[in-house]
This record gives sequence, structure tokens and C-alpha cells, in this order.
Amino acid sequence: MICFSFLLLMLLNADQSRALDKFIAATYEHAVILPENTLTPVTEEKALELMNRNIDILEKAIKSAATQGAHIIVTPEDGIYGWIFTRETIYPYLEDIPDPEVHWIPCSDPERFGRAPVQTRLSCIAKNNSIYVVANIGDKKPCNISTVGCPEDGHYHYNTAVVYDSDGKLVARYHKYNLFLGETQFNVPPEPEMVTFETPFGKFGIFICFDILFYKPAAALVVDHQVDTVLFPTAWMNVLPHLTAIEFHSAWAMGMGVNLLSSNTHNTSMRMTGSGIFSPETLGPYNYNMDTEHGHLILSELSAHPRNSSTFFIHNWSLYANSIAQYSPGPNVFRGHLFSDEFTFTELTEPQGNYTLCQKNLCCHLTYTGMEKITDEVYVLGVFDGLHEIEGQYYLQICTLLKCLNTDIKSCGEPVETASTKFKSFSLSGNFSTSFVFPEVLLNKVHLATGMFQVLPDGRLTSGDSISQKPLLSATLFGRWYDKDPVAHDDTIFPDSKGCP
Ligand SMILES: *[C@@H]1O[C@H](CO)[C@@H](O)[C@H](O)[C@H]1NC(C)=O
Ligand SMILES: *[C@@H]1O[C@H](CO)[C@@H](O)[C@H](O)[C@H]1NC(C)=O
Ligand SMILES: *[C@@H]1O[C@H](CO)[C@@H](O)[C@H](O)[C@H]1NC(C)=O
Ligand SMILES: *[C@@H]1O[C@H](CO)[C@@H](O)[C@H](O)[C@H]1NC(C)=O
Ligand SMILES: *[C@@H]1O[C@H](CO)[C@@H](O)[C@H](O)[C@H]1NC(C)=O
Ligand SMILES: *[C@@H]1O[C@H](CO)[C@@H](O)[C@H](O)[C@H]1NC(C)=O
Ligand SMILES: *[C@@H]1O[C@H](CO)[C@@H](O)[C@H](O)[C@H]1NC(C)=O
Repeated sequence: MICFSFLLLMLLNADQSRALDKFIAATYEHAVILPENTLTPVTEEKALELMNRNIDILEKAIKSAATQGAHIIVTPEDGIYGWIFTRETIYPYLEDIPDPEVHWIPCSDPERFGRAPVQTRLSCIAKNNSIYVVANIGDKKPCNISTVGCPEDGHYHYNTAVVYDSDGKLVARYHKYNLFLGETQFNVPPEPEMVTFETPFGKFGIFICFDILFYKPAAALVVDHQVDTVLFPTAWMNVLPHLTAIEFHSAWAMGMGVNLLSSNTHNTSMRMTGSGIFSPETLGPYNYNMDTEHGHLILSELSAHPRNSSTFFIHNWSLYANSIAQYSPGPNVFRGHLFSDEFTFTELTEPQGNYTLCQKNLCCHLTYTGMEKITDEVYVLGVFDGLHEIEGQYYLQICTLLKCLNTDIKSCGEPVETASTKFKSFSLSGNFSTSFVFPEVLLNKVHLATGMFQVLPDGRLTSGDSISQKPLLSATLFGRWYDKDPVAHDDTIFPDSKGCP
């Protein structure tokens, strides 16, 4: 009898479809081998050769992750062929990727939809290692050039994320909607695609890079489709002070209340580094490395349903700010530019203080103590309420405490990577008009402030005791007021610039 129930238990344990409360996620930051020549078209064979060299490296990382028990691994945007192409030169790298509803395991049936060596290999790697594999490849779809919208070369090209399950089956295909500047080799799909799929370890959604700044599909996957975990291949160029990869992506996971598996391309001369496994309550593990050109594998255990946690709550971002009286803006208020946005700043002149600073509809409140000010460092409170118009258009509401580049107040808002000044405590809040606010705290040399701050249900970003141990670069409530975004897709030809943002 004992033996029988023991056997039953073993059988239950072996059942793969059994729901899991926790799972192990992996992301791989990959230093992509770029094609030598992207100005003249190469043959399909040449293109495949280059892609296979990248997949060889990804395969090693995937095998290693699987050996360590990972259920799913994300690899980066542009991770198989790079980012500099024209429409003509990307073409030999593309494959026709079918809709997952065809129930296809490319590894078992490689010829079913024509030539598909890359899809077949990725599917086999997933199947052979019994792990979900997320990759970014290019999809081509023929169209009739006499129909409206069909490009002159007779194909739509899509920047596409694919997911193969642990049997090698294609379970998700997502065409990137918010293309970044210079991604002229690809087309925008007619509608934003809301791609989700169920697994024994929660409901997943997927989008790519620049998408994360917009409502559709990124925020909508959480709001309308209640995904637990987001898969996020990216080729993200870091922009200080508010848009470095690890900083903004961890803040998005926290603000949206989901897990985010972020896998960045690695190329330091393009400022591309920063991948991580983020949850609403933890900032990592993460990788940020501007010193070498190596790839990096990260694994972490996550809750399959982060919103079921007893400590999970929905923030009301303006509750505290609406409940208090205003402080003074201080004696030294001035205007300055941060990533081309015109902020209102006020200089923090005392070791402790209380300030309120407003711009348009947004008032930010800062209370801080124990600023051990180093003489050649200047800190400001900043506020911005307006449309960001450089490298994409999106409406922002931002409250930020940050270090200026140097003692010239004109440098406030410029990128800065190092600081020596420590704070004993701070608390930042604002009367935001949006419920989409992403809390960011960045320390000296671009480190995340893991365990050193919290966000309260009333919308305050407050420091913890340990904040006094590390010099502060910035603390920010980064709000996105999606309703104020310009409506139509802007077809302006952007200057040549690759990667996002
Ligand atoms: C997968 O395993 C099969 C044999 O089980 C082998 O023939 C094939 O080369 C493997 N493919 C990959 C991509 O590892
Ligand atoms: C393309 O569309 C035109 C006009 O609708 C039609 O005459 C032509 O047959 C179509 N070509 C193909 C290859 O379907
Ligand atoms: C990084 O990207 C740039 C621009 O695409 C390229 O010229 C450079 O060779 C890349 N660096 C490495 C190490 O691949
Ligand atoms: C998590 O919560 C959802 C409802 O939000 C519920 O359907 C599900 O059963 C819960 N899952 C676990 C593992 O507790
Ligand atoms: C947040 O709190 C304010 C009171 O300051 C209230 O008016 C508002 O409805 C609350 N918002 C949400 C989303 O609960
Ligand atoms: C700031 O305000 C708090 C109350 O919110 C008060 O206890 C503190 O003394 C004030 N600090 C300064 C420097 O005014
Ligand atoms: C924020 O506070 C300021 C000052 O009290 C007020 O003028 C503004 O309307 C408030 N904004 C919102 C959205 O309530």
C-alpha cells in the first residue's frame, strides 16, 4: 500500500502539465556576431552561416540554463543577425514564420512550410533540452504590390519574437509594433498584436524593446490580458539618467506588477548592456557590464503568479501627494534639459529639507535628510509634465531627485555615471494624472538599489535604512500618461540610429 501511493506520487510528479507555483527563468545577454557586410546583399547560405554562428553560442547558453533546471530562457532582440540592414540586405536572413495555430514542431517536420533552417534549429534546441526558448528572428510575408501598403519589393518584413515550448512546438509569434528609429528594414504590422500563451507556470505575454514605452501592446497585456510574466527580447541603448535598461525594465515590472524577463544584446560601443530577471518585488538578479564584450547567463526562481503574493498591492500613485500641504519650491528654481525634455529643477542646498516643485499639472514633493554633500556635487529635485519628442513621441510625468553632471547647474539632467554623495533618507511623491508610474533608484556606477527602497501603497517612493551606505545617482517616479500620446503612428523618416531607445 505504501509502495503504491509512493508510485502514485511519483507519477503525479512526472506529470508535466501539473501547475507550478514557482519556476526557474533564464535570460542570456548575447554579444552578437555581426555580419561583415550589410550594404550589399549576401546569399541565403552566407546569411545562414552567420546566423548559425550566433545560434551556436545561444545553444550553449540554453543547454547550460536547462542543465541548471531553467523552464524558460529568453535571448535578445537582433541576437541572431545584428541590427544594421537595408530592406534588401535583411531579406536573405528572413523566413516565413507561420501562425502558431498551425500546431507546428519544426524539429519534427522541417519542410512543412518551406525553407526554415533557423526555425528548425531553434525548435530542436528547445525540444532536445526540454526548455521553452524565446528568440528574435525575421518574418517575411509575400504581398501583392498592387494592394495598398504592400512594399515595392513585394514582401512585408517583420521584426519577430518566437517562442518554442519544451516539445519544440511554436507557441507564440509576435511582430514588433513600435519600431525604433532607423529600423527601416522592417514593416509595422497593421494592428498591435496581443500575444499570450498559457504554461504550467503562469500566463505569458511578449513584446520587443521600444514597445515597452507604449500602451499597446505592453501595458495592455497586463491590464486587459492579466499576464503573469512578460518575455522581453531587447537591443536597448542605455540613456541616463532615466532610461538605462536595468533601471527602466525593473521599474516597469514593479509598476505593472508582473515578472519581466529582459534579455539585452551586448555591445558596449552601442551602450547596449543590462539584462535581468525582475519581479514586482525584486530587482534582479541583473547584469550590467560596460567593461568586457562577453555574454552573460542569468537564472532565477520566480513566482508563477506574482499578483497572488500576500504582499502584493496596487499603488495609488497620487494618494499621499494629494493628502499633504505644499512645501516651498526653494530659493533656486531654474529650467534645464534632460534627454531634450525641459524640466523645472530646484537645487538642494541644505543637508535636509522639504520641497514642492510643480510643472503644469504635476507637483512633486521631496523630503530628505542627511545629505552628506560632497563639495563638487550638486543635487536637484526635478519635475516634467509634457510630451517627449526625441527618438519617439510619448507623454511623460516625472518626479526626480538627481545628481547633476558637474557644479554648473546647466549640466543638471545630463547623463552622469558616478556620485559620492549619500543620503540618510528620502521620500518622493507626486500628484500624477496617470496610474502608470515606474519607480527607479540608481546608485553610483549604474547599480540598482536592491533592497534599499520601497514604494508604499499611497504612492511614496521611500528609502530604506541601507540607502545611506551607497552614493545616489537618482531616484525617480517615471510616469507614462498614455492617454496624452499622439494618436497616429508617425511615419516621419528618422535620422539613422539603431537600437532602442
Ligand atoms: C537533437 O537531438 C537529436 C538526437 O536526439 C540530434 O540528432 C540533433 O542533432 C539534436 N539537435 C540539436 C539542435 O541539438
Ligand atoms: C494582384 O492584384 C491585382 C489587382 O487586384 C490582380 O490583377 C493581380 O492578379 C494580383 N496578382 C497576384 C499575383 O495575385
Ligand atoms: C558593436 O556595434 C558596432 C556598431 O554596430 C560595431 O561596429 C562593433 O563592431 C560592435 N562591437 C563588437 C564587439 O561586436
Ligand atoms: C492566483 O490567483 C488567480 C486569480 O487571480 C487564481 O485563479 C489562481 O488559482 C491563483 N493561483 C495560485 C497558484 O494560487
Ligand atoms: C487615488 O486616491 C485619490 C484620492 O487622492 C482618489 O481620488 C482616486 O480615486 C484614487 N485612485 C485610484 C485608482 O484608486
Ligand atoms: C520636513 O517636514 C517634516 C514633516 O513632514 C518635518 O518633520 C521636518 O522637520 C521638515 N524638515 C525641514 C528641514 O523642514
Ligand atoms: C496637483 O497639484 C497642483 C497644486 O495643488 C494642482 O494645481 C494640480 O491641479 C494638481 N494636479 C492634479 C492632477 O490633481
